Amino acid sequence: MSISWSDSDPGGRRDPVVFLHAFPLNCAMWEEQVLDLSKSHRTITLDWPGFGKSPISALPANGEGVGSLDGYALCVLDLFNRLGIDRAHVCGLSMGGYVALSLLRLAPQRIRSLILCDTRATADTPEVKLSRYETARMVREGGAEGIERLASMMVERLLGDSTLASNRGLVDRVTGLIRQNSAEGIVRALVGMAERQDSVDLLPLIGGPAGVDTLILVGNEDKLTPLSEMRGLAAAINNSVFLHLEKAGHLPNLEQAETFNRLLREFLR
Ligand code: MLT
Repeated sequence: MSISWSDSDPGGRRDPVVFLHAFPLNCAMWEEQVLDLSKSHRTITLDWPGFGKSPISALPANGEGVGSLDGYALCVLDLFNRLGIDRAHVCGLSMGGYVALSLLRLAPQRIRSLILCDTRATADTPEVKLSRYETARMVREGGAEGIERLASMMVERLLGDSTLASNRGLVDRVTGLIRQNSAEGIVRALVGMAERQDSVDLLPLIGGPAGVDTLILVGNEDKLTPLSEMRGLAAAINNSVFLHLEKAGHLPNLEQAETFNRLLREFLR
């Protein structure tokens, strides 16, 4: 069974941009970008298996990719094939960025340009891995209650202090997005992230032999992938463009949607 997706231009007349969402959200986090970018581009959003409207069965059950994020990248490739997309601009935020790098490893020829937001190329440290397994256990054992606990934990980390202090509506919206996902989807994604491959070796290839133009975006108040770390990511990718957004945390596309859209449009142009 396939993942759930939405396509602003099923006729495929415009240049495609594929948006890969963060954990533990779903494709609705890209609403503002779809509204804006679909005037000029073919925007495609999708839900990871077990998130939003995608069934968990969409994740490859065995063979290549199991237990890592490659299974998620294979879902994206399957969607490219289903929609007849040869190459696309790929915009991934956080976990979406990890999957974009898996995709780059599996099928670099399918990526026209990369927009990496609030993400990293390194694998998890042993401490982070351990805490992912603990969170996975909390959600597996707690079900809906576990998701509720995850939501209150994550919202504080995902949003910047400026948003937390002044935008109650966005705090509620992000909490609502987390509640829409299944416990199984969340657990599989946590395990996938914990076991993901380090992608640092790919970085010199991106602006070099792979020839992929790259934009790196980050919120100034990001607590999960701080500015200094994102600067390091940009420095490792030849010819990448590095930009940061004021008064935004880990979700600048939601916290500063207008600025984010403008930077994205300028890059795609
Ligand atoms: C995300 O926003 O996708 C997550 O924070 C990624 C992570 O936990 O590493």
